[in-house]
Amino acid sequence: MSTGIFITLEGGDGVGKTTQAELLSSWLEQRGFEVVRTREPGGTDLGASIRGLLLHGGHVTQRAEALLYAADRAQHIDQVVRPALERGAAVVQDRFIDSSLAYQGAGRALALDEVRGINEWATERLWPELTVLLDLDPTVAAKRRAEAGMTDDRLEREAIEFHERVREEFRALAAAEPGRFLVLDAAARVEDLHEAIIARVAPLVTEL
Ligand code: TYD
Repeated sequence: MSTGIFITLEGGDGVGKTTQAELLSSWLEQRGFEVVRTREPGGTDLGASIRGLLLHGGHVTQRAEALLYAADRAQHIDQVVRPALERGAAVVQDRFIDSSLAYQGAGRALALDEVRGINEWATERLWPELTVLLDLDPTVAAKRRAEAGMTDDRLEREAIEFHERVREEFRALAAAEPGRFLVLDAAARVEDLHEAIIARVAPLVTEL
């Protein structure tokens, strides 16, 4: 049984997920929580190898790609996330199943229910209490990445239409589950985004 809290951050590439995850983690730590900051893909040793195959390897077929993300996730949830939640920790994670639904489902055009099915099997149906969606126009996000001198990985090199489908799917997922999602305009100031996240997290952690 889980006693901790599981929070994920989602959105396109270059929207500021990592910055907000770090700010949220510090806030939780200051309040005495054990915080596990992690990410997918690549939150375990096996996952680091899978991440290399996915992002910096050669061609990966669509179904192989979906299965590799799910395999990374299965290992990560079992080795890192569930044990942390069972200890009562707060898990703050960059990306989760919603990324597979948006990128492999809508982006690659695989059937959404099938992508959901393999991922729910991989995680034994673990879902976060809260998912923060940082929503941003992919053209703006690409500009931010270029200005920050970031080199694009295999997914980031996809056409703008791909990233637009990803964005729309994230927004559709959030609209379908307003109780789990907090949607924020990622063009806002870093401090304002942090405040909005804290406002939603604070009531969730009072009982931990
Ligand atoms: P991420 O680690 O967020 O990128 P960065 O290198 O900027 O930190 O994610 C790597 C890429 O993997 C990103 O383009 C999104 C993609 N991805 C999927 O396509 N499906 C998934 O299930 C996940 C978790 C990520």
